[in-house]
Amino acid sequence: MISGKIKLPGDKSISHRAALFAGFKEGISTFTNFSLNDDCRATLQCLEKLGVEHKQDGDHLTIFGKPIIKWQQPSSPLDAHNSGTTARLISGLLAALPFNTTLVGDASLSKRPMRRVINPLKEMGAQISSNDGRLPLTFKGNAHLKAINYLMPVASAQVKSALLLTGLHAEGNTKIIEEATTRDHTERMLNLPVQIVNGKKEISTHSSLTIPNLSMEIPGDFSSAAFFICATLGIPGSSLEISSVSLNPTRIGLIDIIKIMGAEIEYTVRQNNPEPIGEIQVRFSHLKNITVPKEVVPNIIDEIPVLAILATQAEGTFVLKNAEELRFKESDRIATIVKNLANLGIEVDEYRDGFSISGPQKIKGGKIITHGDHRIAMAFSIATLFTNEKIEIDNPDCASVSFPDFYHILNEIQE
Ligand code: S3P
Repeated sequence: MISGKIKLPGDKSISHRAALFAGFKEGISTFTNFSLNDDCRATLQCLEKLGVEHKQDGDHLTIFGKPIIKWQQPSSPLDAHNSGTTARLISGLLAALPFNTTLVGDASLSKRPMRRVINPLKEMGAQISSNDGRLPLTFKGNAHLKAINYLMPVASAQVKSALLLTGLHAEGNTKIIEEATTRDHTERMLNLPVQIVNGKKEISTHSSLTIPNLSMEIPGDFSSAAFFICATLGIPGSSLEISSVSLNPTRIGLIDIIKIMGAEIEYTVRQNNPEPIGEIQVRFSHLKNITVPKEVVPNIIDEIPVLAILATQAEGTFVLKNAEELRFKESDRIATIVKNLANLGIEVDEYRDGFSISGPQKIKGGKIITHGDHRIAMAFSIATLFTNEKIEIDNPDCASVSFPDFYHILNEIQE
């Protein structure tokens, strides 16, 4: 049974942005509850190599920022390790630097698509060479950057953010247009002008914009909360309270989905500026599976692995489609979810852009191959709570990519 009250480490997406944006805002910015996971450490290390210093005291972070023209040329390549957010967001700044830089990553990140960010950056005048659209990337300094109007072809907050960051250092007014709403931390934190035109979101940026005060308490990570929410929903008698967690509407699509499934979950927003933060209460619930509405997919994209685990315990058929983006995450998450569920004796159908599961099904013992994917390790750790049989996870420690405290907190809330 799960019970108790928890407060979670800072949101990963917001922590990356806090460090990067404070890195190019002149002066001192301070953050509390900054996420000290492997990914956010990679962002801090890249900034340090570029001459942006920081001081860290527990989860309290101070960044000594300066405009990018005062950044220093690193003596070796910048390493984003496993972090797609570091690689994609920092590309938007490397494109605008007055000197050459090279960006590398680990084996998993080096397989992930970068053309989605390279192509529009090149349209803006950036000079980038790549390994056939993948890392390593080399950025030539002193590029003459000009604004673009860009309709996003894929729903990606990382790409959107990279282009907005380049737009802040380019000549003219850049406009990024989104058909599908993705996480909006960049536009909130930088207070960028946003308009809805013909049902599409248009975000503008310009080099003359003033960067607002960035210092803040980083809200707890909702994507981390998702693992414990799903555990609570699936284990009879459980109840859990989560405090000071991000309730950004572009992040909490999982709450909408599980509510339709019949979840007893409530939340209250306590503070809203620049990011909504508040409390969640959730209890064990009898759930019915659904077909996930297309428009919610970008807002549950990181929660799908654990939602799949929960779907095995709910009645009826869970259908996910329009989620091909999952194939380009830290692993091909459609394949990893489907294969690992099958390893646990679950019948699941795989589609090009999703999967379906008919529940409830009994989870059997078996082996989980994570491919070093943190969310796969954590999602299948939740599966271990829904069975008495033995599940062996090949690399549980990869959880530290986003959530080093995961197993510790999971232990504390189990009775
Ligand atoms: C993120 C955006 C999403 C998400 C990732 C973090 C961000 O990726 O999956 O974990 O911080 O902008 P995409 O932009 O590739 O969809």
